[in-house]
Amino acid sequence: MKFFVDTADVSEIRELSDTGLLDGVTTNPSLIMKSGRPILEVTKEICDIVDGPVSAEVTAVEFNEMMREADILSELAENVCIKVPLTMDGLKACKALSSSGRKVNVTLCFSANQALLAAKAGATFISPFIGRLDDTGIDGMELISEIRTIYDNYDFDTEILAASIRTTNHVKQAALIGADVVTVPPAVLKSLAKHPLTDKGLEAFLADWAKTGQKIG
Ligand code: E4P
Repeated sequence: MKFFVDTADVSEIRELSDTGLLDGVTTNPSLIMKSGRPILEVTKEICDIVDGPVSAEVTAVEFNEMMREADILSELAENVCIKVPLTMDGLKACKALSSSGRKVNVTLCFSANQALLAAKAGATFISPFIGRLDDTGIDGMELISEIRTIYDNYDFDTEILAASIRTTNHVKQAALIGADVVTVPPAVLKSLAKHPLTDKGLEAFLADWAKTGQKIG
């Protein structure tokens, strides 16, 4: 399973990239707003930090304008992945961009049929939004499961990128179902390593070690 971080905060990305655990980054207009930085500048900087795909989202809603923005974003770096919304214009842009060899992430997916269309349009990634579905009282994980079945039925290459992840349990469930990628906020990613028994065990080991008076090396 690949791990992407869902942020445009360069210091967080740098810190996580240094662990060697990061496979890519996803951004969106809200995350760019949160960063307080110009989209082209911050996206370029992120692309220089990580080798994997960096999703940068078009903000146009009409096909021709989406393509114009996609061209500008594509010029930033080789690892830019163009993010388009799951609308008819977005799917048309996905088909055109993927046919020209570009990586495309189709975002704002809330149904299995939408995911089916994105795969037909040649999407590199489909982004089902788990947390936002949970917020409406619908089980977001059920959607991941449906998409997994449909993609496997037809051997689609489109990767399932579980998005809108809010908890460590979301990550575990997505992995159990077989999502190809999770994109996770930095805090959730870091908390995956946490367990109270790990902390307690380490504390006891260090206390006993101190009693030995030894040093390694
Ligand atoms: C995915 O690419 C989106 O940027 C993100 O996961 C949305 O998450 P949210 O619902 O927490 O805003």
